[in-house]
Amino acid sequence: MPQSKLSESDYHQATKHSYLSVQLDPNYVDASTQPAAFKFYPKFYRRVKLNLNNPNHSFINLSSTITLEKIYKDGIQKLRVNPSAGALYPTEVYVQIRGIEGIVNGIYHLEVENNCLTLIYELIDDGLENYVIPGKCINGFIFLISCVYYRSSWKYKDRSLRYCWLDSGHHLGAIAASAYIHDKEIQLIFDFDKLALNAALGFENKEFVSACAISGTIQEKKIRHLRLQVPFVCGTDYFEANEFIESGYQKTSLQKSRQQKLVHPQFNFDKDKFFQTVWMRRSSRRFYQQSISQENYWRILQHITLPIPSENFEEIEVYSVVHQVRGMTPGLYKGKHLIKAGNFREKTGYLCINQAIAKDSAVTLFFVSDYINYQTAMQIAGFLGQRVYLVSNFWGIHCSGIGAFYDDETQEFLETNKDVLYAMAIGT
Ligand SMILES: Cc1cc2nc3c(=O)[nH]c(=O)nc-3n(C[C@H](O)[C@H](O)[C@H](O)COP(=O)(O)O)c2cc1C
Repeated sequence: MPQSKLSESDYHQATKHSYLSVQLDPNYVDASTQPAAFKFYPKFYRRVKLNLNNPNHSFINLSSTITLEKIYKDGIQKLRVNPSAGALYPTEVYVQIRGIEGIVNGIYHLEVENNCLTLIYELIDDGLENYVIPGKCINGFIFLISCVYYRSSWKYKDRSLRYCWLDSGHHLGAIAASAYIHDKEIQLIFDFDKLALNAALGFENKEFVSACAISGTIQEKKIRHLRLQVPFVCGTDYFEANEFIESGYQKTSLQKSRQQKLVHPQFNFDKDKFFQTVWMRRSSRRFYQQSISQENYWRILQHITLPIPSENFEEIEVYSVVHQVRGMTPGLYKGKHLIKAGNFREKTGYLCINQAIAKDSAVTLFFVSDYINYQTAMQIAGFLGQRVYLVSNFWGIHCSGIGAFYDDETQEFLETNKDVLYAMAIGT
């Protein structure tokens, strides 16, 4: 089918894994050809070093910072507060800052590797508001998440369209966690003029804005579009275009998502411990087939159902394959309802492309949806995924996202006709 004719769900359909597709293309890559995972604006741009004793700096820093450096024979891998499929980190963060003492009003790129903000645009009577929340002025912060898609498509080809959005959702979740720790509220925005913003930020076809998060006071005031275009800087050292991803992004950027009333979630974590959890969050590389308590299991599920602070929305339903939760019959559940009883360890491991984490976990979760807007649905799945990581880790339960599964066989096993967007394993 010509790509211009593809609809939202076709992008899901076209990126499905099956037993055969994985045999034919197991995604092997030469690690030495990996494109750069950090973006830098030219060295003559003005920079602000983030000072962690300043709460506003610390708020921004904790949204993206490096929390572990792993040394391999080919180099160092820098792991961050946000997880990422294959640790490829396609997402970048830009922050518009307005009316914050000690910081010039402007749009900044968050240079994660050097823990600083690079001023890429100074505001006068213009700003990002006109693209993301027209008619309003935000005194505070406007975060933009973008995807430098080649970092992910280098390895995962067309399926990386999914991973870019899931990663973007996780990154929004990391911003939300940092906001919570810094006593700030955030609102997520998915429906806005992304294409106009990409053009204004000079992204060409190499990077695309996926979502926005605002934090601050909202005032009725008209702010002009950006009066100048930001110069193009590539987020990787080399680039190969992928037409499918570019058209998938553009098509899903035009469709409005479902709408809901804005409600903020209420969390009740010990903030010092939660801060430690954000710093220590990691993906479990192995589970030991041990049980978890029902109390912890229900805590995790309950947090998934708390409000998502956004007016743009897609409903995510969660199925749980319970392998080992104390006092629960093993089997497939939707919420508290047991759909079918049984030991499905082998089956779940197989469905997740024979990954041991899906088999040896205490529970493997599957997120499904019958979305209107695929891009929004995937990002909300990632946003909830970040909650699952943090709530699990807070209570001493390990966790890992799982983006790779045999789509149709998983859907059949779950007995749903909704698309399976994401899976997560939790356990010890
Ligand atoms: C969208 C997404 C999909 C992922 N899929 C898998 C997967 O299929 N299998 C796996 O072992 N890990 C998976 N992970 C975990 C990543 O490998 C992990 O986040 C990355 O290596 C960075 O490590 P960290 O999470 O400990 O910081 C996934 C993570 C994300 C965010």
